Amino acid sequence: MATLHVLIVDDEPGIRSGIRRILGNYSVGYAFMDEDFDFNLIDAGTGEEAIEILNQQKVDVVLLDNKLPGMDGIEVLEYIKKQGFDLAVMMITSYASLDLAIKATKNGAFNFMPKPFTPQELRASIENVAKHLYLKRMTKKMQAEGKQIRFQFLSVLSHELKSPLNAVEGYLKMMQEKQLGDKIEDYEKMIDRSLARLKGMRNLIMDLLDLTKIESGKKERKLREIDLGAIARTAMDTMEPYSIQKNVKMSLKVKGNTYFLADADEMEIVFNNLVSNAVKYNSDNGKVEILIEDHEKEIVMSVADTGIGMSEEDLDKIFQDFVRIKNSKTKEITGSGLGLSITKKMVEQYNGTIQVKSVPDKGTTFIVSLPRN
Ligand SMILES: Nc1ncnc2c1ncn2[C@@H]1O[C@H](COP(=O)(O)OP(=O)(O)OP(=O)(O)O)[C@@H](O)[C@H]1O
Ligand SMILES: [Mg+2]
Repeated sequence: MATLHVLIVDDEPGIRSGIRRILGNYSVGYAFMDEDFDFNLIDAGTGEEAIEILNQQKVDVVLLDNKLPGMDGIEVLEYIKKQGFDLAVMMITSYASLDLAIKATKNGAFNFMPKPFTPQELRASIENVAKHLYLKRMTKKMQAEGKQIRFQFLSVLSHELKSPLNAVEGYLKMMQEKQLGDKIEDYEKMIDRSLARLKGMRNLIMDLLDLTKIESGKKERKLREIDLGAIARTAMDTMEPYSIQKNVKMSLKVKGNTYFLADADEMEIVFNNLVSNAVKYNSDNGKVEILIEDHEKEIVMSVADTGIGMSEEDLDKIFQDFVRIKNSKTKEITGSGLGLSITKKMVEQYNGTIQVKSVPDKGTTFIVSLPRN
């Protein structure tokens, strides 16, 4: 549990003790926060007193009345801005004139709360302030650590998870309201769509689990001499239900010794992704050829398909997180756009390389080389 230090600046003792009572044993938490926050409350009856406190101790949030006996709230706010304190100010005023609102916003006040307020209103506002502060500080920290990319990743991710949830929720509400009448059969399309969205979500979560495995570095890798041919077979078996639907023929050829020192789960991820793409982006009645060759110093595996292919331009992007090529040929094909970025990270863990060659409407070949050492 972390603590946010809240400075209450108000000349009415009743307001100060009221706020103390409401926030005294309140805490906030969000799924994306590592820990919950509780509040340590500090009182000031005047602006001058508030400034003294701000200079002496750490304050995260200031609840600031504007009408104070000496210097007023706006002056305190200006002081805070000038000093560049890392905190959020919430103005509490009994009459919020437009003029005051403009001045306060200009000077960086986070929001306004009109007096009188209910305990619920105060808690909701403080919850917002806490979230704002947390995100601001996280962003700053991540920028400092060069982790802006991670932040973008998380934003895209939450978007990707939210859209299927919204869709399914929408369908369920329509069913709850019986918008198409009483017969379950009439809702079949909605049910199918919901199931499809949920399946997409499940795949995304599986991809994420793979990513976490790669990035945490915590997972013990179980390196053994494994047969890459056997792993490729498993990947083919996994994709078989799909390949049958599209009448895509898969074949596997191995040349030489295909044993390689690796973690079987990780190699499975590589094959699963390449084979799944080769089937997914193939044309009906197409072919997938997997080749594993022993080159002594390295092992080279390729997955070739006779599918829709990609343009030169597209090839540069496909290894990035969440990138999917959008055109009329891929419109009906679902995916999260994480598969290849995971595969690349995986291959690089083995100091290997992944290359791709593709001709639009002819097919695509992915080539993975893994050095033996
Ligand atoms: N064999 C292929 N032939 C044609 N296009 C491909 C092929 N493999 C990948 N692509 C293109 O590259 C994009 C990224 O592939 P990637 O595997 O990363 O994501 P995905 O298949 O969309 O989703 P998933 O995370 O479920 O694998 C695909 O959306 C597709 O447009
Ligand atoms: Mg894929």
